[in-house]
Amino acid sequence: MGSKTDFISSVMSAMSNCTLYSEQHPIVKELNDKAFSSIGQLYRDGVVSITLLGDSLIFNEEQMSEKGLHVEKFISRLRRRGIDKVIIRSGVSGGELLGFIAGMAGKRDLQSTSNISLGIVEIGQTTESVAAKALAAENVERLRRLFEGIRGMHPLDMSCLDDIVSELINTLRNEANVLKVISPIRAHDEYTFIHATNVALLTIFQAESGGITGDLLFEIGFAALLHDIGKMFVPETLLDKKGGLTAEEWDVMRTHPVAGARYLSGLRNVPRLALIAAYEHHMSFDGTGYPDSGRKKKGQHLVSQMVAIADFFDALRTNRPYRKSVEIAEIRCMMAAGAGRQFSAPLVAHFWQSLEALQGGSE
Ligand SMILES: [Fe+2]
Ligand SMILES: [Fe+2]
Repeated sequence: MGSKTDFISSVMSAMSNCTLYSEQHPIVKELNDKAFSSIGQLYRDGVVSITLLGDSLIFNEEQMSEKGLHVEKFISRLRRRGIDKVIIRSGVSGGELLGFIAGMAGKRDLQSTSNISLGIVEIGQTTESVAAKALAAENVERLRRLFEGIRGMHPLDMSCLDDIVSELINTLRNEANVLKVISPIRAHDEYTFIHATNVALLTIFQAESGGITGDLLFEIGFAALLHDIGKMFVPETLLDKKGGLTAEEWDVMRTHPVAGARYLSGLRNVPRLALIAAYEHHMSFDGTGYPDSGRKKKGQHLVSQMVAIADFFDALRTNRPYRKSVEIAEIRCMMAAGAGRQFSAPLVAHFWQSLEALQGGSE
């Protein structure tokens, strides 16, 4: 009984590590071997069959009654990849299983092989982008629950945040053009959460196109996702205010970098980069901006510099109640004007060159 869940747990752990690193990474190999050895006891007449039926997972004709976290994640991963059936035959090799895991992790094309048959419900460009949109909406909802939980003093769910960051990294691997995956704001009160995922995507994009991979890329995504977490300590009436803010209200709003860094410093397992980006993202490259502190002498951290570029871009391209979104060409001029003072000049150049390379390459 336990071995079905063991199998799914090893597959899911291999998959998340494959998303973060590569399918050649030793931990992925180790987890794949574990999955491969646990499947040995599961064959029935030489076949393991896994079927997705609504919210249930039917494993060898039996519904899995206990759905732990890994089973839940496996179900949602199958759904996102448009797969409703997986048949694994006993002749399967470790390499074939790894191919399936890498395909589910978005690292390879997902297709049936001689011993693994996949029932694929939907394939093709349109459904992929529908799936990407559904995924983005789901992440925004998850982030809303997490962030709003902070107001209610709930602990921050790190594994859920890890999951969101992995999915954002994955989204960019499947759709390289970051401008196609950043979401528009649908409702006024969603701004904070959509902005957080957009800034994370735009920062991951800068880092990855600059050659950053693995753990560091993940930590940078994590830091960008949480850059405005201090806003959860600003009264909602200010965040949701439809008109411009008064001078006093701006003073309150400007406390969010310090509040965010303070909050994160009290948590375990938060990458240090997250504290730094929360604290510094409204500092300018030349040390001006806020909060005003002795840190100026040290200069703004490279990750905060990338977050600041992403933050500026996303804030301006978004329609807000008090102003319309700014054209991309105009944002480019504004950033160029601030290069060397507000922003790092090489990073601004890198950001626009990377965007241009995408536009030229994909269309
Ligand atoms: Fe901010
Ligand atoms: Fe922001």
